Amino acid sequence: MCGIVGYIGSRNTVDVLLNGLTSLEYRGYDSSGVSVYDRDDGEIKIFKAEGKLNNLKEILKNDTTLKTPGIGIGHIRWATHGVPSVENAHPHTCNCGNLVIVHNGIIENYLELKSKLENLGCKFKSQTDTETIAHLIAQKYKEEQNLTNAVRNAVKELKGAYALCVMHRNEPNLIVAARKNAPLLIGVGNNENFIASDVPAIISYTKHACYLNDDEIATVWANKFEVCDLEGKIINKRVEILPWESQTINKMGYKHFMLKEIHEQPDVVRNVLSNKLIDANTKIKLDEVKLNSDTIKNLSRIEIIACGTSLHAAMVGKYIIESMTKIAVDVEASSEYIYREKTTNENTLVIGVSQSGETADTITAIRQAKQTGAHILIITNRPDSTMAREAHSLVPVNAGIEVSVAATKSYMAQVLSFYLFAIYLSEIKNTMNSEQLINLKFELLKLPNLVETILQHEDEIKKCASKYASTKDFIYISRGINLASAYEGALKLKEISYINATGYPAGELKHGPIAMLDETMPVMVIMMPGVVYEKILSNAQEAKARHAKLIALTSSNDPKLYDTFDDIIKIPQICEMLSPALTCVPLQLFAYYIAEFLGKDVDQPRNLAKSVTVE
Ligand code: F6R
Repeated sequence: MCGIVGYIGSRNTVDVLLNGLTSLEYRGYDSSGVSVYDRDDGEIKIFKAEGKLNNLKEILKNDTTLKTPGIGIGHIRWATHGVPSVENAHPHTCNCGNLVIVHNGIIENYLELKSKLENLGCKFKSQTDTETIAHLIAQKYKEEQNLTNAVRNAVKELKGAYALCVMHRNEPNLIVAARKNAPLLIGVGNNENFIASDVPAIISYTKHACYLNDDEIATVWANKFEVCDLEGKIINKRVEILPWESQTINKMGYKHFMLKEIHEQPDVVRNVLSNKLIDANTKIKLDEVKLNSDTIKNLSRIEIIACGTSLHAAMVGKYIIESMTKIAVDVEASSEYIYREKTTNENTLVIGVSQSGETADTITAIRQAKQTGAHILIITNRPDSTMAREAHSLVPVNAGIEVSVAATKSYMAQVLSFYLFAIYLSEIKNTMNSEQLINLKFELLKLPNLVETILQHEDEIKKCASKYASTKDFIYISRGINLASAYEGALKLKEISYINATGYPAGELKHGPIAMLDETMPVMVIMMPGVVYEKILSNAQEAKARHAKLIALTSSNDPKLYDTFDDIIKIPQICEMLSPALTCVPLQLFAYYIAEFLGKDVDQPRNLAKSVTVE
């Protein structure tokens, strides 16, 4: 949700900024811009473009005015205040143009600040909240001509979330950065420094980084940086070595990152299981879970909070944990948890699930839960994220960088992490007998090969998708542990193809949604053999009687299915408990191929951003 970069050093600044923004494009793609200080003519220059980053790259490629920039800031935007346009694209400036700023976040009191600033003579050129910050800092700068102090004094008046990079023409050897409720880190190099919203923007230049915390302000020169608090007191910061390999983001021959990431899932499963599940006879090891065994034995309630796809993984997690440990589990969207009476306390375990670890709603929710005394455990793909750093316990999911905005392999890794965590709890609480546990672990170890088998049948799923690509609406139904798979399958389809797809509990069809059914409405029925199989089959027959087109996603060999279903997507057999780890894969491929047939921008669907850092 907006990405920012800054660079100061002797490299080609525009290249560093554009490379950084390319790696952050998952955070938004409504517009982009860079601002550089040209040492030759002592001017700050700004370049902006509406739409994808390539539009900005084209402008910069053809520009002949840039000479020797050695310092600059850049931005990629996901529009919040003001439509996507060049005038609303960052960087923004103050009246005289001496100060430039890029911002990620939302300033909640910007209207109030704007009217005060207008009374002081500030002229606004955009509809953004960010421009308010530019004018505010410029006003503060007039007082003592020191950019760090000006930023520090200005941010004290801001309400909301911000990660900022600010440059001033009168102080051309430094960038000032500040953060509150939006991620920001300094990449520390050799006589050069970087600032970025996220690691991928800097990792090909340096593995040394310093994460800023809320209410910290950093002054960054080429050869050093200094961090202070809101009162100007210097804070000693630790430079960490990033546990990331320098990597170029590469589709490896696949047409889209989404397809590549779907295909990475067998290895993702292997990675998640490796070290934690050694063999079927050994207890699960989760080194970063800091709950002691007495707490686990007395644990009576778990609350899981998450958004979007991670929320669907949480729904699967509820089933798994309740079945294996008999602990009551509630699942709630983070955005709902935030605004209701809290019932969590020191006896509750609160699990936050987040691919990015930076989703604003989930961060706020876990902070609130932490204040109630609950133990906070985070299941995340980003052990370096804000959530991970605020948690008491961690389950890193090891899915690797996920570039496509639609989450696929991270969902798989989250679901698997729930199996591991539930077995871990169960081994301490003694809620399953050893034979059950061994069988389950044995089945878990088979998953990578089973996922591979599904991928080998990709062409059949593609063929099925081609038959439904022209539909306007879709319903996904299931029951039990795969209800979340229905929700997730529908979300995948709607977010990348823009087809109106909705997941329903199969038993709920007859309480309303069945009214929508006719021959134009396809229904995807996820029905894995198990306790609810026959019930789902009956629900499917009810839909058939209303002339709906039916697709079964199943491992069943039941010949009766051919009488009821128009199409059958067959997947390998697995116990019902583990089946969500298989059903997600064909649903991802089905959505992918429909979007691909429709010619949609699969990796960067309209209106979305991968990391939703605003509430
Ligand atoms: C959908 C998708 C989103 C995210 C949601 C939460 O494919 O990716 O629904 O799952 O924005 O993001 P994280 O998991 O980063 O908290």
